[in-house]
Amino acid sequence: MERFVQELVERARSVVDAGRTRPVASDAIEPLHAPTFDGQALSYVTECVETGWVSSAGRFVDRFEDELENLTGMPSVAVVNGTCALEIALRTAGVGPGDLVACPSLSFIASANAIAHAGARPVFVDVEPRRLGICPEGLEQTLAKDWGAPIRAVVAVSVFGHPFDVERVVEVCSRAGVPLVEDAAEALGSLYAKRHMGGFGKLGILSFNGNKLVTTGGGGAVVTPDDELARHIKHVTTTAKLAHPWEYHHDQVGYNYRLPNINAALGCAQLEQLPGLLADKRRLAERYREALSDLAGAQVLWEPAKARSNFWLNGVILAPEELELSGDDELMELRARTLEALNDAGLQSRPIWHPLHLQRPFSDCPRGPLPVAEDLGRRIINLPSSAALGRLQSPAATAR
Ligand SMILES: Cc1ncc(COP(=O)(O)O)c(C=O)c1O
Repeated sequence: MERFVQELVERARSVVDAGRTRPVASDAIEPLHAPTFDGQALSYVTECVETGWVSSAGRFVDRFEDELENLTGMPSVAVVNGTCALEIALRTAGVGPGDLVACPSLSFIASANAIAHAGARPVFVDVEPRRLGICPEGLEQTLAKDWGAPIRAVVAVSVFGHPFDVERVVEVCSRAGVPLVEDAAEALGSLYAKRHMGGFGKLGILSFNGNKLVTTGGGGAVVTPDDELARHIKHVTTTAKLAHPWEYHHDQVGYNYRLPNINAALGCAQLEQLPGLLADKRRLAERYREALSDLAGAQVLWEPAKARSNFWLNGVILAPEELELSGDDELMELRARTLEALNDAGLQSRPIWHPLHLQRPFSDCPRGPLPVAEDLGRRIINLPSSAALGRLQSPAATAR
């Protein structure tokens, strides 16, 4: 076990060192994911401050939506964060109090929180061992079962930016007549069959949190191929105010969920950098794959067939059987030692989230069998994944 741990640390460190463009102090910590601010970030944000257009109206928030539409090929509505985006998407799909929503158990807790915010409860479904997305067979069985309340929507997540099994999930949802709402919070720039994630169901969402590939500080968006739904979402997320130069008339209970212009300004600057960021992420993932692929005990997570992942977070699946370790105690020891050694070496590394059905707020929610989520929840470790680590270095930088 110790030899594996040391080898993993050394190899991960070599990838990180190769990506550093400047010498760093020996006790510096390489973060799990740091944003990269280049180009116009400062000038666009400064323009907001200087002109006073910092809040829910302004040229950047409209432009950010237009640029997201160009990127994803769908109308996009910018909102305050991905969690609110998912709540509104679910409500728009018809989810309300007393309903159930099918949701993979291996996701960030925001997926389940948004279901609860919409007044519903998740019913947890297992995930696939390699893609990490919702398991189509498990979903089919879940949708066929009588849970005592209707399943009004299916949430499918592209974990770490790797697309779920789009074709089979879409087919299962359409056979059951249940709308698909994509949680593509981690998947900006990820494609399946050359189409952007978020657009395979009725609605999808993106996140621009500080830890994402493109950040607005905090922010999110709802995307949908349906123009009418996009107009409705823009209306309800901007207090449902009827258009008028000065009168305040609102036609329903609305939400104050619009992304502020100052956040969108940062987002516009970030989107200008997106092709470079995606290339850097891919380069970094390839370096990890090269460094770790022949290391017994760790399997590198990779993009699925027909998909193009944004490689938001790099990760390895611990494979204790390859180290001739067995049993729960040995796995937990391997996990603890690996995390400790990576973090002690200044490589900020985190385990994947604990499955949602094991989280206190959702522990009494209905669920099918979840063996893969429970297994992977103990075996996946994420490694430092900032885009800057994958940047091509100029000869001058490498010589320093
Ligand atoms: C899978 C997933 N869903 C939803 C969210 C919520 O996004 P936000 O943090 O912008 O609310 C996140 C991330 O933060 C996420 O990773």
